Amino acid sequence: MWTLITGAGSGIGRALALELAPRGHNLILAGRTVRKLEDVADTVRVEAPDCELMTLEVDLADPESTRNLAHQVGDAVDHLSAFVYCAGVGEPAADFASLGLIDFQEALAVNVSAPLLLTQSLLPLLKGGDPASRIVMIGAGMDKHAQPGTGSYGISKMALRRLVRQMSVEFDTMPDGPVVSLFQPGLVDTPGIRSHIKKAGDLNLPHAEWLAGRLEAGECLTAEQAASALVFTLNQVPDSDFHGAVFNGADLVDSLSFAGS
Ligand SMILES: NC(=O)c1ccc[n+]([C@@H]2O[C@H](COP(=O)([O-])OP(=O)(O)OC[C@H]3O[C@@H](n4cnc5c(N)ncnc54)[C@H](OP(=O)(O)O)[C@@H]3O)[C@@H](O)[C@H]2O)c1
Repeated sequence: MWTLITGAGSGIGRALALELAPRGHNLILAGRTVRKLEDVADTVRVEAPDCELMTLEVDLADPESTRNLAHQVGDAVDHLSAFVYCAGVGEPAADFASLGLIDFQEALAVNVSAPLLLTQSLLPLLKGGDPASRIVMIGAGMDKHAQPGTGSYGISKMALRRLVRQMSVEFDTMPDGPVVSLFQPGLVDTPGIRSHIKKAGDLNLPHAEWLAGRLEAGECLTAEQAASALVFTLNQVPDSDFHGAVFNGADLVDSLSFAGS
């Protein structure tokens, strides 16, 4: 049972790899920084020695590199049980006038075009599963909550939401297609969000202080909690409730802790 995770070297993707490894998932860890992927792989080898895994370098802002990742995955495995797209970017801008086209295009490339291209390229590995292979794209609440300086990130995540919707209706027309959902993590304490808060704070953007205050107060999920909620969606939610759904990480963590109490 092979699972591909992009953005596996950090934050939610890293935590997801560590949660899935002892649960019978063999892992393909894909990301931009090989050192971070190898660090995750080393930890998996210690914590889940039976897990088969490989690390693959990719720049998801680059379509050639993204296609190459799909080829490498196809050379290595016949089938993917799950594909979780955790990679994400979105540089803040000081104001609307300085929203840079390069940053905007990078966010669209990594957060929208690469999930599309990778899913298309991996379809032969994602079709024909029994149970159906599961795809999860990681969205963001910023899609519907526009804040000054967050255009690149928010607009691209809104497009990703629509892409998931599109995939779900397209997969309905494939008799042996995969199922897909969007996972909205809510605020999660990761290197990515801390880096974003620092950059947004340096630009005096109002949401930076609010986010920093919530992290400080612990009003956020840990990466491990977000990963547990993802594992629940991957392993336990029935297909009919999974396909086309939008999951909220904080709500899932609440209901899982209620169920466990
Ligand atoms: N943390 C939150 O509060 C929060 C809230 C809502 C949504 N999200 C979403 O959750 C997902 C995971 O975020 P996170 O907080 O865990 O952030 P993170 O710690 O920064 O992890 C993001 C990962 O994406 C990888 N990545 C970025 N650009 C890439 C590229 N061009 N090619 C390949 N890999 C690339 C990064 O690689 P490197 O480490 O090598 O740079 C990193 O491993 C993202 O989609 C994010 O938008 C997070």
